[in-house]
This record gives sequence, C-alpha cells and structure tokens, in this order.
Amino acid sequence: MSKKLYIETLGCAMNVRDSEHIIAELGEKKDYELTDKMEDADLILINTCSVREKPVAKLFSEIGVFKKKRKDGAKIGVTGCTASHLGEEIIKRVPEVDFVLGARNVSKITQVVDTHHAVEISTEHDETTYDFSDYRSNRYKALVNISIGCDKQCTFCIVPATRGEELSIPSSIIVKEVERAVSSGVKEVVLLGQNVNNYGRRFGSGESGAKNFTELLREVSQVDGLERIRFTSPHPLHMDDEFLQEFADNPKVCPQIHVPLQSGSTQLLKRMKRGYSKEWFLDRCHKIRQMVPNVAISTDIIVGFPGESDEDFADTMDVLEKVRFDQLFSFKYSPRPHTAAAEYEDQVPDEIASERLTRLQARHREIQDEIMQSRIGETEEVYFEELKSGGKVAGRTATGRLTMVDGSEELLGQIKDVKIEKASLTTLFGKIIKS
Ligand code: SAH
Ligand code: F3S
Repeated sequence: MSKKLYIETLGCAMNVRDSEHIIAELGEKKDYELTDKMEDADLILINTCSVREKPVAKLFSEIGVFKKKRKDGAKIGVTGCTASHLGEEIIKRVPEVDFVLGARNVSKITQVVDTHHAVEISTEHDETTYDFSDYRSNRYKALVNISIGCDKQCTFCIVPATRGEELSIPSSIIVKEVERAVSSGVKEVVLLGQNVNNYGRRFGSGESGAKNFTELLREVSQVDGLERIRFTSPHPLHMDDEFLQEFADNPKVCPQIHVPLQSGSTQLLKRMKRGYSKEWFLDRCHKIRQMVPNVAISTDIIVGFPGESDEDFADTMDVLEKVRFDQLFSFKYSPRPHTAAAEYEDQVPDEIASERLTRLQARHREIQDEIMQSRIGETEEVYFEELKSGGKVAGRTATGRLTMVDGSEELLGQIKDVKIEKASLTTLFGKIIKS
C-alpha cells in the first residue's frame, strides 16, 4: 500500500512549484500518495518561506502541532527557504524533525527522505537540467520554472542567501515542459523566476536556444494550443524597450505585469540597491500603459525600510497615485539575517511603519475599487478554472482579474467572452456572451 504524504506550502509561487516537484518525485520514486489529512500521513512536509520573520516563527509553532498530532512513526521534514537558512539548527532545536532540504535542493528529496537527520542545503547545487517527475496542482494553469536563484543583492532580501546564484534553465527543457502541460489540456503557463527578465545571463550545464527573456517568450509562444503566457517576477531595471515591445506585441502574452517598486524614493532605492530611480520606474510604467492599453500593473512595496523619512514615504504614495496599481502586495520591512539592511542603524520604529502601511493600503483600496468599477459594461475574455459554491464558476481575465459567472462544470478549461455587470473590490461578476 502507498505511504501517505501531507505537505504544507508557505510563501511564493516558486515554493508552490517546488512542492509540486516534491510530490511528483515522492509519488513516482517512493510510492507516496498525497493526503490532505496531516493525522493520516506517514510523511509530513512543511515547505517554508523566510522572506519575512513571521513565516519563520510560524514554522516552529506548526512543527509543534505536527509533533503532537502526527500518527505514530510519521516523519517530519522541513524544506524550502527557512530550511536553507537555518539548516541543522532546525534539527538541534527540534530533534523530531527527520530531515532538512534547502530550496535549491529539491531534486534530492528522494535521497533525504529515508536518511535520518539528513541536511541538504547547498546553494551551489545546479538543478537546472534536472528532469523532475510530473505533478500539477492546477489542471488548467501550469507553473514552469525558467531560472533558479537570484544574482541581485537587494539589501533587504534573504532570497540570494537561500536560493543561491542565478542560473537559467535551458529553453529546450522549458519548451518541452510547456508542451507536456499543453498536451494534458493546460491553456495557460506562468513562467517563474526571481528575476525572469534577467533570463539567459548564466546557464548551468545545458544548451539553450533562447538567450534572453524576449527570445524565450517568442519560443514558448510557438507552442501550439498554448493560449496564455504570464510570468513572475520581472525586475524594473531589466525592462528594456525590446522586452516591452515583445510584451506588447505577442498575442499570447497576457496584458498583466508585476513591476515590483519596493519604494518610490530614489534615495531609498539606492540604499536598497535596486538599481533604478523613481523616474525610471514611472517611465517604464508609463511606456507599458502607452503600449498596452488597459494593462494591469501590480507591485510589491516595502514600508519602513531603514532610514525611510516622511518625504521618502511621500514619494511612494506619489508613485501609487501616478501608476494606479491593479494589485498591491505591501509589507512592513522585516530585518533578515544575511542581509546588509539588517545592520543599518536607522531602523524605523514599528508604530511609524504600521501607520504608513495602513495609509498606503487604504489609498490603494480606493484606487483598486475605482479600477474594478470601471470594468462594468466591458467585455473580458475569461479562462475558467474553478467551480465555486452557489452555481458559480470562477476564472481570470487576461489582465488576471478574478471573475465569476453562473455556470457549471462544462465551463472549466474554456475561454469565453464575459460581459461584466458588477464588481466588488476583488471580483468581477458577469454573464457569458453567447457566440
Ligand atoms: N524577486 C522577487 C522578490 C522575492 S521576495 C520578486 O521580484 O518578486 C517578494 C517580496 O517580498 C519582495 O518583492 C519584497 O517586496 C518583499 N520582501 C523581501 N524582503 C523583505 C523584507 N526583508 N521585509 C519586508 N518585505 C520583504
Ligand atoms: Fe530578492 Fe531583489 Fe532578488 S528582492 S529575490 S534580491 S531581485
């Protein structure tokens, strides 16, 4: 009989994809079958995030629960970025943890799973040509890694320390993976990397056709049957005109883009080592809007970065006002080990950071509401992915907005024109236009 695997995934899309690889490898090579009941599992995995302090604290409280409630003899493994960053300290702190597997060592899961107290966290490891077994948690949308690691040294960010140096995956492997997904019915792919538009800077051992991200988009878009391409995250610094032209002209590339701002203050951007100014950021967003009317731009913002003054924060609010983001992921700065900014002396008091975050989010909600309301009366192409309660089916517009219509199962996996009739802050509601 198969053994049972329970896996909890924290953090970003990269972690979601890593979990899929782990599930596939353990399923195919070690006869594990996925369960959603932790109490039934023979192996409990927690795939962790370390980008802010909170998820790290959460890890240890979760392990505590697993220890208490697991079935007799069940193993506990810790994978992902916190595994990379804390390594064997996790086992020292909680000896019941069986093994620790870093974010750059996913391909070693079948080795560590049966080795008591194994710790595999090398960030030198190259798994760009590793042929993972196949498992996807979403039947309609495929996550596809295009690079691992990150070469930037943004002074707030722990990711380069946990995921290591940036290496691109050869385009032949990427295209094959996309073809495989499409042949199983997927119409949309999301290309994943910490810095996708830096693609091609350095490859591991494999040969690649595409040498940069623009070429990769072209190559991937040639896959027959593929209808939608998204990618996350690009870096504002590498948004050159050639890339923006491809983004605008390639009909399979969705009119949605994540442009992580972090701060609107040029001075703070310098201290963050982001490599661009407020003006460059505004210029790129302006250009994107000119080239792709009705594009949806989302962003990440950190408030309370060391040294952030009222004027710096006013610059961030100014960018928010000028760009009018569709979606905002906003965070209070969290000092992280192995990062330069954690050593800066002018840390911002928590009350000030909290107050700024509240203000930023409140203004963003107003803008988001206006954007959503402005869609009423428009027609959007919606790709349906999920059955909801009350006879509703949910999907995404090309711009990535969650949309619901009345309908049933047969809509799943289909792209339809929807006339938008109503909008809440996060969801559009409409009717399918009969063709
Ligand atoms: N390369 C990825 C960044 C991964 S981290 C990308 O461009 O999306 C995801 C986001 O977490 C960052 O964009 C940043 O806004 C936030 N973040 C990273 N380190 C942080 C820290 N120390 N404190 C608060 N937020 C942080
Ligand atoms: Fe982090 Fe900057 Fe890379 S935010 S993941 S170091 S681009």
